[in-house]
Amino acid sequence: MAVASAPAKVILFGEHFVVYGQPAIAMAVERRAYVKARSREDESIYVSSTDLGISGFFSNDEFELERGGFEDRWRLEPIRAAVKGALDLVGRKVGVDVEVRSSIPMASGLGSSAAVAVATAKAVSELLGAHLTKEEAFRIAYEAERLVHGSPSGIDPAAASYGGVLLYRGGEITPLAVRADFILVVGYTGVKRSTGELVAKVRRDKERYPLVVNPIIRMSGELVVNALNALEKGDLRALGELMDLNHALLSAIGVSHEALDRLIRAAREAGALGAKLTGAGGGGCMIALARLDEAERIALAIERAGGKAFVTKGLSEGVRVEG
Ligand code: MEV
Repeated sequence: MAVASAPAKVILFGEHFVVYGQPAIAMAVERRAYVKARSREDESIYVSSTDLGISGFFSNDEFELERGGFEDRWRLEPIRAAVKGALDLVGRKVGVDVEVRSSIPMASGLGSSAAVAVATAKAVSELLGAHLTKEEAFRIAYEAERLVHGSPSGIDPAAASYGGVLLYRGGEITPLAVRADFILVVGYTGVKRSTGELVAKVRRDKERYPLVVNPIIRMSGELVVNALNALEKGDLRALGELMDLNHALLSAIGVSHEALDRLIRAAREAGALGAKLTGAGGGGCMIALARLDEAERIALAIERAGGKAFVTKGLSEGVRVEG
């Protein structure tokens, strides 16, 4: 048996625009997905998630649902793909049981499917005595993510695999050294949505109105350059202002949501240095940048506005094997 875990992520700057090759900055947060892998007597892959109440078998190309609705297959499919990716890399064809436990809310913008895929690749390879690098776990999970998200940039599996704070651009990952007194309040609207659909909506708009959407995409690239500068200097005020600007760009491409805007307004009124949606938008989560002594007040304001809030301090480790 082998167990591995990987963290959730928030995108600090540049979601959506990163799909078109612009840089973006992501940060791992301390909510983790845990995956336990065991070998099986036969060659099938059995995937179960107690939290979601779904499980099913994949044997050759046949899928047999054990628990859950049939539409739940798309949740299990990328996990199967991560198992296969790890088996192919290690060069083995064996059956595997995979059990997922996760404290990351699904479809909330926190990268739960990427964290599960990364942890799965790691757990399966450990089971077979191979030790995947972060890069290998990232690559396998990225391929698995393509199955559910259409045309993802890869930033979610990069953050889940590497942890910490990173700059992502066109598949290239640069870990960033930032000061650890960086405090974020994450607010969950409770509104679930599909990253794939939101990414497809932006693509449609970009194709229909290129002269409107392309300049916004380029602006995001400039914004990220400014954000890198602010991160390097530890300039929280500038970071907050840039978050507000980033949210305005995301609103302009139509991926905000009234529940997000409500939580963002509440956070700003409670003293946040800046706030924005994080991830694909359309519901899901927002983040607010806070000074140490104001984080709890901001979290409370988000809760009063109808969200679920948690405070993240310090940096989170990427994928790891659990004792
Ligand atoms: C999702 O966390 C971030 C998006 O930019 C999609 C992607 O980059 O794959 C919306």
